[in-house]
Amino acid sequence: MIRHDDFELLRGIVKSRSGLTLSPDKAYLLENRLMAVARKWGMNDIDGLAAAVRGGPNEELLREITEAMTTNETLFFRDQSPFEQLQKVVLPRLMASRKEARHIRIWSAGCSSGQEPYSISMILREQSALFKDWRIDILATDISRTMLDKARAGLYTQFEVQRGLPIAMLMKHFKQAGDKWELDPSIRAMVEFREFNLLGDPGTLGRFDIVFLRNVLIYLDQPTKAQVLEKVCRQMPTDGVLYMGGAETVMGVTEKFQPVSEHRGMYRVTAGGPSQWKTPPASIASNA
Ligand SMILES: C[S@@+](CC[C@H](N)C(=O)[O-])C[C@H]1O[C@@H](n2cnc3c(N)ncnc32)[C@H](O)[C@@H]1O
Repeated sequence: MIRHDDFELLRGIVKSRSGLTLSPDKAYLLENRLMAVARKWGMNDIDGLAAAVRGGPNEELLREITEAMTTNETLFFRDQSPFEQLQKVVLPRLMASRKEARHIRIWSAGCSSGQEPYSISMILREQSALFKDWRIDILATDISRTMLDKARAGLYTQFEVQRGLPIAMLMKHFKQAGDKWELDPSIRAMVEFREFNLLGDPGTLGRFDIVFLRNVLIYLDQPTKAQVLEKVCRQMPTDGVLYMGGAETVMGVTEKFQPVSEHRGMYRVTAGGPSQWKTPPASIASNA
């Protein structure tokens, strides 16, 4: 059993470095996940790990402790509808309003092992004729270096490709590499992966028309959620679109965004932008 003062020390580190909040009933989780870190650093138990932390500043150790406590569950085309909306509603609408600049920036914040940004890039590839002469940037960020390395490699197990990825897309965009599936390099090249902590200043990343911030804030407390959402909002134009996970909401957290009633999980910037995001007539999409 983890000692109370060790738990408090370690959960304090995780909270201050990532915003992730661990309630006392998560002591077993912390113990389970940090045992691997302890062993890697040559310690036999959590007590030893806590002693090393108390022993003086060790940035790499603190980073690994934090990273080990992240939850990285993800899948291709998670919940489907955000990706359908993106294709059928959001991109056509934004393309119509950005005809001159012909540039759209998308941010997958908390991208884990890459399934989310790669789902977006596969959608874009499927409709590449529509995006000819357009520049569409996809930036994918995460706090976890392990996840970013996995994402960049674009190698997925049979189990991972069976979750959410339509078989036609698997056949088209992946090839078998031993017992894994490798995503086509040209689809991988559409995504830039970068380490970024959501507690930091997203101003360093630039502005984004569309932000996927899905299933990340659920692990943070209310004030931290509000701070992150407010900083994200500052990086978005008034007609920008935010996606959050199915079990998440901005209600009661911030007034910077408002839910789009027609589309679950989709939020608009409160300060402006269209209040209606109905599917546009085909002419908007084809004129874009
Ligand atoms: C559950 S995954 C969600 C992945 C994907 N967005 C989805 O919905 O499938 C949450 C991701 O958020 C990342 N994360 C947690 N706290 C973070 C922080 N403070 N800054 C950046 N990323 C963070 C974790 O490392 C993890 O990969």
